[in-house]
Amino acid sequence: MIPLSLARIAEITGGSLDGDPAAMVTGEVVIDSRRIAPGGLFAAVEGERVDGHDFAAAVIAAGAVAVLGTRPVPVPSVLVADVPAALAALAGFVADSLPAARIAGITGSSGKTTTKDIAAQLIERLGPTIAPAGSFNNEFGHPLTVLRADAATRYLVLELSARGIGHIAYLCGIAPPRYGVVLNVGRAHAGKFGGLDQVARAKGELVEALPADGVAILNADDPRVLAMSARTQARVVTFSCTGAPHALHALHAPRRPHAPHEPPQSHAPQPSFLAADIRLDDLGRPGFTLLTPDGSAPVRLRLHGVHNVPNAVAAAALASELGLGLGEIADGLNAAVARSRWRMEVRQRADGVTIINDAYNANPESVRAAIDALRYLARDGRGFAVLGHMAELGDFSAASHAEVGEFAANAGLAGLIAVGDEAAPILAAARGVRSWHGEAIAAPDGAGAVAMLVNRLKPGDVVLIKASRAAGLEGLAAELELEATG
Ligand SMILES: Nc1ncnc2c1ncn2[C@@H]1O[C@H](COP(=O)(O)OP(=O)(O)OP(=O)(O)O)[C@@H](O)[C@H]1O
Ligand SMILES: [Mg+2]
Repeated sequence: MIPLSLARIAEITGGSLDGDPAAMVTGEVVIDSRRIAPGGLFAAVEGERVDGHDFAAAVIAAGAVAVLGTRPVPVPSVLVADVPAALAALAGFVADSLPAARIAGITGSSGKTTTKDIAAQLIERLGPTIAPAGSFNNEFGHPLTVLRADAATRYLVLELSARGIGHIAYLCGIAPPRYGVVLNVGRAHAGKFGGLDQVARAKGELVEALPADGVAILNADDPRVLAMSARTQARVVTFSCTGAPHALHALHAPRRPHAPHEPPQSHAPQPSFLAADIRLDDLGRPGFTLLTPDGSAPVRLRLHGVHNVPNAVAAAALASELGLGLGEIADGLNAAVARSRWRMEVRQRADGVTIINDAYNANPESVRAAIDALRYLARDGRGFAVLGHMAELGDFSAASHAEVGEFAANAGLAGLIAVGDEAAPILAAARGVRSWHGEAIAAPDGAGAVAMLVNRLKPGDVVLIKASRAAGLEGLAAELELEATG
């Protein structure tokens, strides 16, 4: 955060100040009262269950300089009509004040956080970088991330998400990116959009926002992403993982008449960043040859799942465009770890059972990616998938749950455990796959799923846990890990 007086904050946000105009905010701006540190500013948000204003006294006691809120509180405050708009104004001011900081935005339906985390681990080699762990990607998280920048910051790596048309354009307006990465167009939140073309329209707002001297980094393997090259004035750089196992192509290939191995557009230029010779080790960690305009290098990721190859190559392309050399990129990719939790966390129990905790979120493409990883890890044993429902799919919901059930059954899993009523359509579809001889089990909740699994698991088995955030299944992995010793 660049130090700002309360008077300045009131001026930038158009708010009314109650407190010492000269008091300086020198610490982080947060919306989670537990994260306040001395010198910080607490933005009070009225949520469904809690109202941040109730914590006003507590955050001041913890060292906050003031509260940014919408109604009077008995402590120093800046009162505004709309807190996200005030955060946007502050973040815009900070971004304008730091012309030396280069801003990159990453969007897509799946893999934003992972790509952001990998990219940050590369770009940190170039200079001070702001890219917090986790999904700070909406009208709160985005400005809060920008607000962390200060005079020393050289790079901002931002995750941008959209639940509707105009959202990404709005975020780009706060801190205009010069570099934009689009990973894929899938069905995450598709219900809110009303179709994949609308999702593409929304994600493409990132490249529309780029300036002529900017760089748009596009996934050439996804036709809807590649088509965004027509929507930007920035220079277009593309990446491709066509050397990937077949499953990868299927992940994001929209239903279209031509075969998945065909290039998406025959007139498309050759991608500049490529992954070839993709292989997976015993734990499903990909190794590949990275081909770039500067030459090629072998890479072995520590991350699990072939879907992390495009994430890694996209991050490599961004880092390269920012000036990182190939050797550093390859070293950085080899060293990159998952910074954000519950994404393909693979743990082996002492008794030989492997647990994959991928419970951060779920949409049809990411569930298929995770089942592919499960199938790979369980190739010599039995695979079990504990799946909760996939939220925000709207009209796509029933068909998407059925599709996932069929996919799981065709993957030959030993068991499919659907948690909660909303996940039940997964089981119905799986049972409909005649060639499948696995068990389809309905569990009322997470505890029920654990109870059903413990007696079934034996050494060599692999369990995947995956659901939308709302299902809250991330804790199951820990319970299952404990069961090994119990
Ligand atoms: N390139 C990809 N293609 C398909 N699935 C992916 C890809 N990358 C990640 N995933 C899957 O998506 C899950 C979430 O990954 P990540 O958190 O990086 O995505 P995100 O786009 O940030 O999600 P959110 O919209 O919730 O912020 C992973 O655990 C994995 O199962
Ligand atoms: Mg995310």
